[in-house]
Amino acid sequence: MNKTDIYQLRRNALAKHIFSKTGGGIAVIATAPELARNRDSDFPYRHDSDFYYLTGFEEPGATLVMKVARSGKSYRLESHLFCRPKDLEREIWDGIRLGPEAAPEILGIEFAHSNQELDQKLGELLADQDAVYVRLAESAELDRRIRDWMKQLRGQARSGINPPSEFHDIEVLIHEMRLFKDIHEIEIMRRAAAISARAHIRAIQACKPGMREYQLEAELLHEFRNSGSQSIAYNSIVAGGANACILHYRAGSTELLSGELCLIDAGCELDGYASDITRTFPVNGKFTGPQRALYNITLAAQEAAIAVTKPGNTFMQPHEAALKVLTQGLLDEKLLKLTELGSLENAIETAAYRRFYMHRTSHWLGMDVHDVGSYRESMPSSQEEKPWRILKSGMVITIEPGLYVRPADDIDQAFWNIGIRIEDDAVITESGCELISRGVPVKADEIEALMKNN
Ligand code: GLY
Ligand code: MN
Ligand code: MN
Repeated sequence: MNKTDIYQLRRNALAKHIFSKTGGGIAVIATAPELARNRDSDFPYRHDSDFYYLTGFEEPGATLVMKVARSGKSYRLESHLFCRPKDLEREIWDGIRLGPEAAPEILGIEFAHSNQELDQKLGELLADQDAVYVRLAESAELDRRIRDWMKQLRGQARSGINPPSEFHDIEVLIHEMRLFKDIHEIEIMRRAAAISARAHIRAIQACKPGMREYQLEAELLHEFRNSGSQSIAYNSIVAGGANACILHYRAGSTELLSGELCLIDAGCELDGYASDITRTFPVNGKFTGPQRALYNITLAAQEAAIAVTKPGNTFMQPHEAALKVLTQGLLDEKLLKLTELGSLENAIETAAYRRFYMHRTSHWLGMDVHDVGSYRESMPSSQEEKPWRILKSGMVITIEPGLYVRPADDIDQAFWNIGIRIEDDAVITESGCELISRGVPVKADEIEALMKNN
């Protein structure tokens, strides 16, 4: 299959959804804007994931317009890309632009125009269309432009032109498609996870007491970029000691101390797809007794979650399986008191574990690290709440239980400031799941062995 075929197939699948919903319509999807960091320096540019999913085009300043018209009993799709025009002066300073002349052939799109023609052409494309599909409330700039196009069309009502009368959110349609990864996407995600696994190994092996968190971050970045990944998928967390108990901590300048743990949550982005791995290891290469005890509970919780990560089970089942093991472990280690709670079931029911485990075990993973797609089934349900999503082959989730112990009078000091998370990426297969991030060891002994020669 040609690379551009993938995007054509996706646009066609989306057109089919639009056709079955409203018999046709116009979809408008803009890519992300460039963002200033300070004065005239920009943040590194990152395309919009939905836009890229449908075009494979990474430049800023672009908009995709899809016209889905009824044709007999079926539909006809016409795709228009509006992109930055060629401009020698700007290209000397900022880089080569594809331009509308080359875009149809390179991107496999029917029509391409300069983005300066967007307002005029969209006015034409919208005329006599009932349904418009946009990402509602996504961009103030697009909302403003839509208002202008509508005004323009309403002004032409006397010439017999009908402005659109329905606005639909296109996000739900695209996000439902993105939830299921095709072979091409899974292949990229496998490679992204393999790079991130190597980066974790590199950072774990580089770790020595006295180093700073940012130095391990540098090791991660080295491996990401040296392996061809374009970016981090999210800001890397490198958390020494007590910092591991701050869930959204970033790599800072804290010194890594012998006797403490270091938690690294980091993943690269490769060809637009994220990876998301967490490992926790002893700074001096040897777990203490209490560290190892909590580590093994967390790993057992992850294994229990992995065992139920399979098609037919719900999205919540891995979380429930992990909770059971974590809570039992907390009772065994007397961090939770059986005498107060009475039973494991009660400790779970009353959410007593939340003091030590306050996040979910999984999220969707894909182009975005917290990827899109509904976590609930959309079918009508007699229950008040829609049921949790049933896992199906092609979905990708993370499995990331953790335990975080803050100092407190009722907690044995030996456990204070231990923060542990173990996170892997799982592709749901026909019969279970494939862990694509296990290139980096996860058992306590294996981690110690990895650090032995430090
Ligand atoms: N790295 C973000 C997360 O684990 O959800
Ligand atoms: Mn995650
Ligand atoms: Mn993570």
